[in-house]
Amino acid sequence: MKRTRNSLPFRKAAAVLTAALLATGMAACGNSDTGGGSAGGDDKLVLGFSQVGAESGWRTANTTSIKESAAEAGVELKFDDAQQKQENQIKAIRNFIQQKVDVIAFSPVVESGWDTVLKEAKDAKIPVILTDRAVDSADKSLYKTFLGSDFKKEGRLAGEWLVEQKKSASGPVNIVELQGTTGSAPANDRKEGFAAAIAANPNLKIVASQSGDFTRAGGKQVMEQFLKANPKIDVLFAHNDDMGLGALEAITAAGKVPGKDITIITIDAVKDGMQALADGKFNFIAECSPLLGPQLMELAKKVHKGEEVPARIETEETTFTQEQAKEALPNRKY
Ligand code: AHR
Repeated sequence: MKRTRNSLPFRKAAAVLTAALLATGMAACGNSDTGGGSAGGDDKLVLGFSQVGAESGWRTANTTSIKESAAEAGVELKFDDAQQKQENQIKAIRNFIQQKVDVIAFSPVVESGWDTVLKEAKDAKIPVILTDRAVDSADKSLYKTFLGSDFKKEGRLAGEWLVEQKKSASGPVNIVELQGTTGSAPANDRKEGFAAAIAANPNLKIVASQSGDFTRAGGKQVMEQFLKANPKIDVLFAHNDDMGLGALEAITAAGKVPGKDITIITIDAVKDGMQALADGKFNFIAECSPLLGPQLMELAKKVHKGEEVPARIETEETTFTQEQAKEALPNRKY
């Protein structure tokens, strides 16, 4: 049959061709709107996130918050667990750069040694957001913003509470300190904030201080050493709940009553820590919120669009005594 302009087969073929051209045109528009990273022809923002690891209850809650918020915000999340190793985080960031993700976010395991890889991200025009932990890079243009806690303040609040509790102590108060991961921002800052606060009372003395790497196992092991080496321990300051929980086992095994023979102060306020506080085994917790996911997704969308964002965004946090923990526990989200 001859195909004239008005014949049915000709009109059908033209309609198919027009639809195909329209579809291609729309897909092309979609790609250019989202910038190079949103591969696959849709508008979904692609976020590469490098997590520290799974060392604590706090970290698990933080990972859940990020994954759930990404799904809710329609963000495609490429998630990498670095198992507490900086070299794994550097590898993950380089992979994200190669994959041309739209935005990179990460929680740096330690503060130093990031300039080279951050420069690579900047050269590839991929904005970087720091979450939870900071870096000590002098060049602030290597990242767009920081979202997280004031760790120094957390340490200070813990120290101030102790100063108040021990204000009428007439003799030395011996403190042991379980530090977080060596070189990490929370370990450095909490140590500094706590030391500055307790300087107000010369009776308060740190007699031993060592890293338990933010883990329960680390807390238990180091506390066992502290107990062996120090006949009189009055206070334990643990840089997170998990190390405090590990230390509880060592203290009980040594025949001492946690919360009574040894005053225990921790940071985080995750459910297990709050339970120990409500049960009278811990004495005080300074909160550190892991629920950073919703704010991170908002920030990622903004920096991807090239919008201005504040250089530093701090989470709102509080402190808990034993009574306050009993009240707060039933509604605790993590
Ligand atoms: O960076 C936040 C800290 O890291 C939390 O206090 C601790 O529990 C975690 O491992």
